Amino acid sequence: MEKVLFLDACVRDHRSRTKKLCDTYIEQFMEAHPDAVLETVTLRRGTVQTHTEEKLAERDEYVRQKDFDQPMFDLARQYQEADYIIIGTPYWDLSFAAVLKVYIENIMVPDLTFKAVNDGFIGLCRGKKMIYITTAGGAIGNKNYGYDYMCAIAEMTGIGQTQCIKADMLDIEGCDADVIMAEAEKEIRAMFQV
Ligand SMILES: Cc1cc2nc3c(=O)[nH]c(=O)nc-3n(C[C@H](O)[C@H](O)[C@H](O)COP(=O)(O)O)c2cc1C
Repeated sequence: MEKVLFLDACVRDHRSRTKKLCDTYIEQFMEAHPDAVLETVTLRRGTVQTHTEEKLAERDEYVRQKDFDQPMFDLARQYQEADYIIIGTPYWDLSFAAVLKVYIENIMVPDLTFKAVNDGFIGLCRGKKMIYITTAGGAIGNKNYGYDYMCAIAEMTGIGQTQCIKADMLDIEGCDADVIMAEAEKEIRAMFQV
C-alpha cells in the first residue's frame, strides 16, 4: 500500500491559489493510484514547534538511544514512511512559508530520516518522489530558492525524484490570473493522462 503525504503550507487556506493546484494534483494522483493512502499535515502557526535548547538536548539523547518511538519523532517517522510527498506552499519572499522550515527542522532526525557519513549523508527515507507546488505573485524565474532547498532536503533524505509545479505572475497587472491558473490546472491533468 502506497503512502502519500501532503504537506499543506497553504497558509491562506480556502483563499489559497496554491491549495487549489494541490487539490487538483491530489485528485488526479489519487485517481491514478486508487490504493494509495493519503495523509495530510496541515502546517499552520502552532501546528509544528520550533526547537528549543531543552528539546534539542532531549532529542539528542533519544537519538543516541535510537528511541525513535517518542512522540517528538511522529512527523519524522511519517515522512520516512511516505512513498510520495506533495508540498503545497505559496512563494513568499523568494522562498516558501516559514512554517514549512519549522516542519523540516522536525523531520530531519539523524539515523531516522538521514545518516551522516564522512563524505556527506545517506538518505534513509522510503520516498520515491517529492512534488513541490507553489504559486507566485510575480515571476519566479531562476529564484526558485524554496524548491532548490527542498530538492537538497529530498536528496539528503533519499528521495530520488523531485518535480516543481508552479503558476506565477498571478498578481502582475496585465496578466490574467484566472487564465494562468486554468493553464496550470490543465498541465496537471495532462501529467496523468495515459
Ligand atoms: C508574505 C508574502 C510574501 C510574498 N512574497 C512574494 C515574493 O517574494 N515574490 C512574489 O512574486 N510574490 C510574493 N508574494 C505574492 C504571493 O506569492 C502570491 O500572491 C501567491 O499566489 C500566494 O499564494 P496563495 O494564493 O496560495 O496564498 C508574497 C505574498 C505574501 C503574502
